Amino acid sequence: MDTSVKVVDGVHWVGVRHPDLKVFDDLFPTRNGTTYNSYLVQGAEKTALIDTVKEPFAEEFFSKVGEHVDPAKIDIVVVNHTEPDHSGAVAQVIEKNPNVQIYCSKAAENFLKQLLNRSFNAVIVSDGDEVDLGGKTLRFILAPYLHWPDTIFTYLVEEQLLFPCDAFGAHYCPDKLFDDEINEFYTDFHFYFDCIVRPFKDKVRDALKKCEGLPIRMVCPSHGPIRRSSGQFAIESYARWCAAPSNDGKPKALLAVLSSHGNTRDMAKVIETELFAQGLDVTTFALSDMRDDDYRDALEQADVLLIGSPTIQRDAPPQVWHALALISSVTPKSRLGAVFGSFGWSGEAVKMIEQRLTGLKYKLVADGITFRFTPTTENMDTCRKFAEQVAHTVLCEE
Ligand code: FEO
Repeated sequence: MDTSVKVVDGVHWVGVRHPDLKVFDDLFPTRNGTTYNSYLVQGAEKTALIDTVKEPFAEEFFSKVGEHVDPAKIDIVVVNHTEPDHSGAVAQVIEKNPNVQIYCSKAAENFLKQLLNRSFNAVIVSDGDEVDLGGKTLRFILAPYLHWPDTIFTYLVEEQLLFPCDAFGAHYCPDKLFDDEINEFYTDFHFYFDCIVRPFKDKVRDALKKCEGLPIRMVCPSHGPIRRSSGQFAIESYARWCAAPSNDGKPKALLAVLSSHGNTRDMAKVIETELFAQGLDVTTFALSDMRDDDYRDALEQADVLLIGSPTIQRDAPPQVWHALALISSVTPKSRLGAVFGSFGWSGEAVKMIEQRLTGLKYKLVADGITFRFTPTTENMDTCRKFAEQVAHTVLCEE
């Protein structure tokens, strides 16, 4: 068991390391484990914890807190975000001190009620609210959807420390705590962003705007190293990765196609030609041979998504479902879509894909079209009209 680490005078890391973790939340692989960072801030009058740790690590956590203060004497817990890897020891803090104040967003209060199933003393914060611990002032910045609706950032005014919870974090468990004491971990930092934060790029832009002009000496996230020397780099990386999609040039169509026998591909070629003719740029992906990241980048730039799929065994093929699943891992530029495809026996895929797109809040800009075996000349005319209708709607939405 290691010990707490001083961040600055009156601020200590009291988190825990989890180096053996292989998959975070049963979703995301972690090649280098992770940490659950919690910070103890001691003012002249009050003591606050910023986030806690995952519940199985509570004993180690309280041991570190106890190096500085009796855990029953904690006055405030700031819950930046309620996911259990950070709120897992909150219940035990409340047990030790039933009067402890829980500073959090309104959404976090609601979530905590259902996570803890007990009453607690909540203080709901708004943007810019502050609490003075006695020479140490905590200021709150609402940052909803980074990456849950409940998220807030906490800023320690006198020391210029930003505590952004999951944002700017990394699933990386170093031997030392500070970035300037360890090897580079850019790959883990970027992968973490892709897994956790990428679906909320517009919300990142909102949060970064609120932080503009704020002097930030260190970024102290809830996972991975503390950015003592590279806080600005982390912030600038997020700003670069989350830049708003360009509206320059022609509207863009993303055509994602799987074709077992060439018929759906032939339909796609006619649709692609007509979309070009109507004034759209078209990027075409073969779903059987694409890099997920290339497709995700294209989704974030596309004004409309068209999916072409055959029906195989009364279903769309797995590659098509995978492409649909990737939509919720990004911030699509638009949610306009249309579906087409070929079939031999039954032809359910187009309707199934339409239903999935609708479930993902897409608006279908043309009725799906599907033809049996080799498309006829009339079928290809229908493809042209389909593309024309798609282009017309996209151009009208511009
Ligand atoms: Fe690290 Fe969203 O929890």
